Amino acid sequence: MQENEQVGQVRLQKFLARAGVASRRACEKIIEAGRVSVNGCVVTELGTKVDPSVDEVSLDGALVCQPNQAVTLMLNKPAGFLTSMKDPQGRPCVAELVPCDEIPGLYPLGRLDYDTTGLLLFSTDGELGNAVLHPSRHVDKTYHALVKGTPSEKALDRLRHGVELEDGMTQPAAVSLIRRKGGNAFVEITIHEGRKRQVKRMLEAVGHPVLRLHRESFGPLELGSLPEGKYRVLSSQEVAALERAAR
Ligand code: URA
Repeated sequence: MQENEQVGQVRLQKFLARAGVASRRACEKIIEAGRVSVNGCVVTELGTKVDPSVDEVSLDGALVCQPNQAVTLMLNKPAGFLTSMKDPQGRPCVAELVPCDEIPGLYPLGRLDYDTTGLLLFSTDGELGNAVLHPSRHVDKTYHALVKGTPSEKALDRLRHGVELEDGMTQPAAVSLIRRKGGNAFVEITIHEGRKRQVKRMLEAVGHPVLRLHRESFGPLELGSLPEGKYRVLSSQEVAALERAAR
């Protein structure tokens, strides 16, 4: 490591060379030619340092990854996309929205329905995927649902304590009414199970079918201001927090 590189940081030309782009000298020329960007900004300064666990480096617009570096990212999934890498019927798939050509082995962690929007995680780390999705790990997922009608406090209580679905009782959930919208209402619901169409089935069971569903958070991770249809790579601190939540 160069003396002036901080722990975790590496010079841009070294980062590119490690990723197999070209020799370090040739990478310097590539940088000077303005073909490399860091977090979306073109960088031509050879002394620039990057943190491979946090910074997104692109060459000619394509993401550059370090060998053997696991990548985990979050996507703000729009409605009208299947949570799948490919659909035999040719419907739009979330794979079109993430850099799966540049990052082989990137897979969604769990699924959101075709019409559900919000936070969907992807990772190349199968172990992390198994950990966060395992039902025994109880990772909280928070959704905002626009539902038909306005649920009474009694209906919200039923959701909190568990409702009978065709595949059994649901576990306790945190539920609150956010606000009314016309004759309908927004409900926030946090569950740690991950059964198929669970939130929709729970709300339907108490007489308030879901009109729109959006996932706000997954464990310690929040969507924040990430625009719809966009993704961002998680920092090593975020991945560590996710691992802790799944422990
Ligand atoms: N629950 C649902 O009903 N649908 C989703 O997409 C996610 C959770």
